Amino acid sequence: MAITPSHTALESLAKEVDRAMAEVRALDEGARGKAIALQRAIEAFHKAGLTTIIQRLKADPRGKELLFDLVDDPLVYALFAMHGLVRLDLATRVTQVLEMVRPFMQSHGGDVELVEVRDETVFVRLHGACNGCSMSAVTLREGVEEALLSQIPELRGVEVLPDQPGPGLILPEAIGVRGASAETGWTRGPRVEEVPPGTMFTLHAGTVEALIVNLDHRLSAFRNACAHQGRPLDGGLLDPDAGTLTCPWHGFCFDASSGECFTAPQAQLERFPLRVEEGVIWVRLEG
Ligand code: FES
Repeated sequence: MAITPSHTALESLAKEVDRAMAEVRALDEGARGKAIALQRAIEAFHKAGLTTIIQRLKADPRGKELLFDLVDDPLVYALFAMHGLVRLDLATRVTQVLEMVRPFMQSHGGDVELVEVRDETVFVRLHGACNGCSMSAVTLREGVEEALLSQIPELRGVEVLPDQPGPGLILPEAIGVRGASAETGWTRGPRVEEVPPGTMFTLHAGTVEALIVNLDHRLSAFRNACAHQGRPLDGGLLDPDAGTLTCPWHGFCFDASSGECFTAPQAQLERFPLRVEEGVIWVRLEG
């Protein structure tokens, strides 16, 4: 896939911002405070100007069309996302809210895992102290639901799926036909040697598709849907040297191990649990 000029420009601009921010962080406290105040004032100025441009474009049908085209440009999308002027997709926003509550849950011996977002309903699995019927477990569960529903009003609900043993405790015989077990949600994938380092493999299971990525013998599995507009990523460019996966549609660039997005830092690929057993890759696609 050809890297678009916009994508190239975005990368070098982002590096420049990172470099300048690293220098600001190294300043003494007084100078750092002044530099950050200046940064915030400039950002507020830009945000106000961009908001006016967006409002004016939206008010005109031709402008609206142009605006939608512009948002497809990674540079423009990243700029709008940086100022909170585009709405990220639902799964990304759910992930962000869960990341906000996770430190609190972990400090109380619990954790939360996002299983999927379907029909405006979030399916999560809770671990550790969140299980059981003690007062603290109930409070942690309610905390997750409340955070999600209050931060993302269009959600219809939050379903807590039963906890299950960790991957190491699942016996091979518990995993059934098609390689998928209704009880465990694990789907049998290819053998490890079918996904050599530096390659990807698309795993189809019903309506769900996972992209298995082998980056220098580190295997990861993601939903085969870009965090930008949900389009398939399997035609993308995997760069083993840079450790990146670039979407073929509009050039969003992701960390091929973690799914973190370099183009729009708020976006993130949805990751599936993966394990290898007797040379076979298993991916948990279902709750
Ligand atoms: S960059 Fe737009 S769908 Fe991937």
